[in-house]
Parts: sequence; C-alpha cells; structure tokens
Amino acid sequence: MPLSLEPDAVVVVTSPDAEAEISARGLFEGGIGAGGVDAAVMAAGDFEAKAGQTLAAEVNGRPTILVGLGTEEDLDVARLRKAAGALARRAGRAATLVTDLVEVAAGHLRGGVSEAARAVTEGLLSGSYRFDTLKGNPGEAPALESVLLRVGTADAEPAAEGVRTGRAIASAVSLVRDLVNTPASEMRAVDMADAAIAAGAAVGVEVEAWDLDRCRSERLGGLLGVNAGSVHEPRLIRMEYSPEGAERTVVLVGKGVTFDTGGLSLKTSEGMMTMKTDMAGAAAVVAVMSALPALAPSVRVVGLACCTDNQPGPTATMPGDVLTIRNGKTVEVLNTDAEGRLVLADGLSLAAEMEPEAVIDLATLTGACMVALGKGIAGLMGNDDDLISTVREAADITGERVWPLPLPDIYRKQLDSDVADLRNIGAGRYGGALTAGLFLEEFVGDTPWVHLDIAGPAGTDEAGGEYTKGATGFGVRTVLEAVVSLAGSD
Ligand code: BES
Ligand code: MN
Ligand code: ZN
Repeated sequence: MPLSLEPDAVVVVTSPDAEAEISARGLFEGGIGAGGVDAAVMAAGDFEAKAGQTLAAEVNGRPTILVGLGTEEDLDVARLRKAAGALARRAGRAATLVTDLVEVAAGHLRGGVSEAARAVTEGLLSGSYRFDTLKGNPGEAPALESVLLRVGTADAEPAAEGVRTGRAIASAVSLVRDLVNTPASEMRAVDMADAAIAAGAAVGVEVEAWDLDRCRSERLGGLLGVNAGSVHEPRLIRMEYSPEGAERTVVLVGKGVTFDTGGLSLKTSEGMMTMKTDMAGAAAVVAVMSALPALAPSVRVVGLACCTDNQPGPTATMPGDVLTIRNGKTVEVLNTDAEGRLVLADGLSLAAEMEPEAVIDLATLTGACMVALGKGIAGLMGNDDDLISTVREAADITGERVWPLPLPDIYRKQLDSDVADLRNIGAGRYGGALTAGLFLEEFVGDTPWVHLDIAGPAGTDEAGGEYTKGATGFGVRTVLEAVVSLAGSD
C-alpha cells in the first residue's frame, strides 16, 4: 500500500528527551516567541503560524520544523489534521521525527488528548500517501520512517488510544485512494471483490461477492442492465460487521462503477477522463467496513458495493429498454449514462429488505452536484431529518464538507415514464442532483436513508494538508463517525 509512512510507525512517547533526527513544534498564530522559538527565526522565515504553514529552522541549535496551527480559538480536528499532513510533506530527508503537536493541541479540542492524537496520526499518515507504483522513476522515496508523538505521562493512555483509531482511519482512507487511483483496466468489479475479501479477511469482517449468476438469481436488474455491455462480470459485494449484543443495523451502499463510458449514451473523451474514479462510493464502503473492528461501535453494519463497468457494445442496454429492479419496480432507461442510480437501486432495495435503522449511500452520482456545490463539497439528501442531522454533525466533526440539498416533491413527476414505473432521468439538466436523489428515494421505502453525492470531493486536483492529488478517500471519516454516533444514541 503506498502509505510511505507505515501506520505502526506513529507511536506515543512520554520521555521529555526522546530523540529524533528532527523535531516539529506546533505553534499558534499570534503566539510569537512562544515555546522558546526565537521571534527572529520566525520573522526571517516569514512564518506567522498560520494554519498549515510550515518552516524548517534551527531552534536551540537543533533542526526543527515549525508547524502553524492558526489561532488558538479556531483550532479543530480538521485543521490539526491538515497541519500534521503539511508536516509529513515537509519532513524532508529526516527518517525520524519527534513532535509536540498532540500536547500543544489537546487542550484546545473538545475530545482532548485522544482526539488530538487521532487527528495528528491521520494527518501524518494521509499526508504521506503516495501513488507512485506505476512510475518508472518515482523520484526520491520519502525518508520519514517513524514519528514520535511526545506527551506527558498522564496522557500516554488516551494518546495511544487516539493513535490506534487514527491508524485505522488513515489505513481505510488510503485503501480508498489505492482502489480509486488504480487504472480501470486493473480495477474491474472482480478486482474490487478481491480487494474487499482481502480487506475483510485482514480484520475479521465477513465478505461475500455475488457473481453474475448469483446477481441474476437475486434479480439485480439494475446492476445487470448496466453490466449488459461489458465483457467483465459484475459483483455485488456484501460485507458484514456484527458485534455481539448489537441491537441495531446500519446498511451502507456504494456506487461501484469501475469505469463509466456512459454506455451507448457515450460520454465525450473529456467527460471520460476521470471516470476510473466512478467506484469511489463503493471503495469508501469497503474501507469503512474494514475499519469498523478497530473502532468497535456496538451496531451491526452491512456494506453493499454495487460493482460493474458501464460500457457500450452490441449487447449493451439501449435507450428505451426497461429494467426490473430488485424491488420489482420497472425503470425505462432513457440515458445509459445515468447508470449509478440503476446499480444503487438494487443496492438500496437489498438494504431496505433488511429493515435497518439507517441506510447511507455514497456515490459519484451527478455532474450536476458539482455544478451546484463545486469540487470540494458533497451533496447530502435524505428522507429522515434526524439521520440527515446525524450525518451532517458527523461531517462537521471530521471536517469533510457536506451541504444539504432538497428532494422536492414538485420534481418527482419528471421521473414518470410512459411505459414503466419510472424513467432514469429528469426532464432536463436543471436540478440533476435532486432528480437523481428522488430516483433513489423510490427504492428505500420507509427506511431512514441518507444519500451522499460525492462526485466532486472524491478526487482533488491540488495536493494540500492531508490530501495528495487524485483520490481523497472522501466519506470514510464522516460515515465512520456517523456509524459510531448511531451506535451510541437511542
Ligand atoms: N459518474 C457520472 C457523474 C460524474 C460526473 C461523476 C463527473 C464525477 C464527475 C454519472 O454516472 C453520470 O454520468 N451522470 C450524468 C447523469 C445524467 C445523464 C442524467 C451527469 O451527471 O451528467
Ligand atoms: Mn454515467
Ligand atoms: Zn457514473
């Protein structure tokens, strides 16, 4: 896995004189001179301790990286994670690093030491992520091999706890990045299934992968309709985390279109360039499932990843064809490029059959959502205000950006078909994220459900903070946080 820093390499130390090649010190904006750092050093480097700013300097004759945390009042986990990510990038040729970031930040966070340790661990690991296995000359390998998080003796226990969860979350995030960054020719539905089986086996989460025949016998008409043009088999991946004593069930559903050509409603070459990422929702579901044992929430969680590529060809679904979804509803496919909702329709139907307390789906579903909210923010829709709030609060805690969009009943009639129960597109381009959401709503029945349209934030063109260019792993943190919160509330 291209985490250049191994998860186990981030550790807690309590000795005040723990040695490393280089040390890193967290500083707050306005706290010039704080912690014995010479104001002149900071001024010379034009360093104001703004959030995410870093400066390599000599402090007390030792090589030190100064890490800006912004103003004390505004510190939150997202900012701390970003600062740690920036530090990982800045560590240069040092193999070992010791830092006081956790100690410095802990007092300013609601969750104290463990939350600070978790955010710092996530940032260090996610910020050091690389996807360079396909480069002939990947450039100089990052040197950083271990990071010591220095805390007071009394804080050792909660810090270690935070490091453990941070590692699990960062590993999940980098799993998503790997799966999404891998070219589509090497990440077919069967490859997704293999990855899920491996990830599940490593942590003791059950995994099943339904092959073509099983998808047929299970009547997954949406997934099969999208798969019809492909020479590659689809897979419906089902993962289950079932801790003893759990009374509730949450089902996660992910869109796993391993490549979206648009099908016969073919995309333009430009529109296709990023379409290897169209399985980011499914990848997030697989990764969340794989992180659950480490977080150990007391709730049963089932993950469903609906995987296939979407290809044109003589056997492909044609505009005007009618598919029968798992729940019996018929759909007239008028645009084969609106395929995500078809594979999710089966996944959501399966989810609703389990009568869970909550269903959350993640999907790179619409370009329209990117038009509405841009690249950095996911659209949040659903049929249950409490669940919407839960996911929104979870996103606020993790710092992933989501924004609520409506499911307006006045647009529902756009989905009426002349020949079937539904058509798979609205009447025009306007409100495309909402008509997609309204379509999905048809398959969840009365089950509380939330839909995250992650078409924008699943990838990024800019490296910064804990992000590297390419796949982000968006949704993993928020969904994990939401699951933990659903486990804890009544
Ligand atoms: N996978 C795309 C959505 C997408 C577009 C994700 C750009 C990331 C970047 C989805 O399957 C799609 O093609 N949606 C169509 C729907 C339309 C045909 C109703 C779209 O958004 O144009
Ligand atoms: Mn499409
Ligand atoms: Zn798609």
